[in-house]
Amino acid sequence: MSETVVVGGGAVGCAVARALALEGVVVHLFEEGRPGRKATWAGAGMLSPLGEALDEGPLLDLALRSLRMYPQFVQALEEETGLRLGYRASGKVLVGFDEGEESALRTRAAWGRRHGFGTEWISAGELRTRIPGISEKVRGGLLIPEDHQVENRTLGPALWSAAERAGATMEMERTVSELVCESGRVVGVRLDDGILRHAERVVVAAGAWSGRVPGVPVSVPVRPVRGQIVALRPDACATPLMAASSKVYLVPREDGRLLVGATMEEVGFDERVTAEGVLGMLQGALELLPSLGTAAIEEVWAGLRPATPDGLPVLGPDPEVNDLFYATGHFRNGILLAPVTGNLLRDLILGRTPSTPARPFLPDRFRERT
Ligand code: GLY
Repeated sequence: MSETVVVGGGAVGCAVARALALEGVVVHLFEEGRPGRKATWAGAGMLSPLGEALDEGPLLDLALRSLRMYPQFVQALEEETGLRLGYRASGKVLVGFDEGEESALRTRAAWGRRHGFGTEWISAGELRTRIPGISEKVRGGLLIPEDHQVENRTLGPALWSAAERAGATMEMERTVSELVCESGRVVGVRLDDGILRHAERVVVAAGAWSGRVPGVPVSVPVRPVRGQIVALRPDACATPLMAASSKVYLVPREDGRLLVGATMEEVGFDERVTAEGVLGMLQGALELLPSLGTAAIEEVWAGLRPATPDGLPVLGPDPEVNDLFYATGHFRNGILLAPVTGNLLRDLILGRTPSTPARPFLPDRFRERT
């Protein structure tokens, strides 16, 4: 039977595989490494459209749509897999240190309100009642009670397992060595052992590596942007809320750890953690919460975000090669955008009218510019 091949087993690839398999499509997913062990694993699990500084526009709309899908998405995944995804409304506060930062945050609050998103400006005094150890230098903060978080290191395996339960065949540690095309259409993929898997269509969802799958047309310009994160263990809960300054974000986990992230570095496919990266994050964290000086450092890691020239994900069919689709370029928001991406790709592939506008994200926008 002809099938759909998905290349990449991160949150996005698995969400696409699951959404298609739930519709009875025969899906075969190949993941080069372990399930969800790249950007899905390396992220901080924030579901934070305003907090991640998206501009007002199509990406914010997409992110808000996906955020609102999350409760049901998580409930379904937990029921399907028996895993607990640590999904909770921690709320987030974006902290301003000076007048310029306050004014930028108030602008963000206005976009939020226009999109039905509750936000509230809170004074430095009120901020201190919520986060007692916060720096004396803060001017106030934008509180976003609707911001949630999810345990991304469980989300990856849960999505993998849910896609499998829905009927997709999932293979890890299996490298796609080439997309095979004939007469302007993709006809399958060649695997590392030389075997050709015929496919009716192929979805490339390989994150930062999407442009490096041999045979992928150069028209999909996805590049890696490294993010380093430090996990601290403070003596006591340092902040019940997620918090962010212009330099770092802090994400309190249920297990008592506090994640401090993340660098933004254009260093190619270099996944190392560096002294400079860790130093910068620790400085930013202590500037926000000086009491973190005594926290233990538990873990450091780095991941590669898939970035695009216009900051928007690449979702939909290749403009030149028939039956080749992309679900990539999610940059800082792959976890947040996984549910909406799964549904959008499903609709585009099955020829349905997508419930989410696809136009701004279609891959042909890169061709139109050249
Ligand atoms: N979404 C968090 C990050 O990319 O650092």
